[in-house]
Amino acid sequence: MASEGEYFVRELDVDVLNTSLKLYQVFKGDVGCVVWDAAIVLGKYLEELYKKDATYFHNLSVVELGAGVGCPGLFAACFGAKVILTDLHEMVPLLAKNIAENSGEFKKNNGTAQTLALKWGESPPTDLLRPNLILLADCIYYKECIDKLITTLKNLSGPNTKILISQELRDTGHQQDYWNYFLETVQKYFLPRFVPLEHQNQEFRSQDIVLMELWPLKN
Ligand SMILES: C[S@@+](CC[C@H](N)C(=O)[O-])C[C@H]1O[C@@H](n2cnc3c(N)ncnc32)[C@H](O)[C@@H]1O
Repeated sequence: MASEGEYFVRELDVDVLNTSLKLYQVFKGDVGCVVWDAAIVLGKYLEELYKKDATYFHNLSVVELGAGVGCPGLFAACFGAKVILTDLHEMVPLLAKNIAENSGEFKKNNGTAQTLALKWGESPPTDLLRPNLILLADCIYYKECIDKLITTLKNLSGPNTKILISQELRDTGHQQDYWNYFLETVQKYFLPRFVPLEHQNQEFRSQDIVLMELWPLKN
């Protein structure tokens, strides 16, 4: 667990609620220690959904995978969802800090947030199964994880689970190949629907960030 001087805070407005989230990040650590742009795009897209239907998130069960700092999941909790933020075991203390620092915001709308360790490819605990919504931001970035991540998506989701993925497309290294492999493989099990830029938040959207829904294929 980092000490107070090792954190730096990113404040993100939740305009529709006239409030903001304080996301605690850590100077030293792996990629999950900071909030990535794809996570902000996804969080702000959830805000667009809330603007259209303020009841959408009430009691909605949400699981975020590879949550890092927890940005989109924390937006969902502010809108009234029951959220479980997951990541590797070592990321759980940072997620717990971000839940504690922002819990006053979720309570206003009866939202809740908890954190649990979940490594992709391993059996998920039963209380995570079949949520209404799974969130995933900027998690397709190394080859070895892709099949395991898809296994976790298959294991977690029920027939009515919607998955929302936000991914920055980078032209460095093999990033484009990894994304293409993910897309090709995931479509064996899920139907993709890309969210057009004009349906996203006007300020927080980008040509370089893909936002898409996945729905389980009916057998
Ligand atoms: C690029 S970071 C994105 C973090 C956050 N979603 C965001 O966009 O700000 C990727 C995240 O995936 C997590 N991750 C990587 N491999 C994982 C695995 N095998 N199982 C679970 N989480 C994993 C990392 O710990 C990290 O938090």
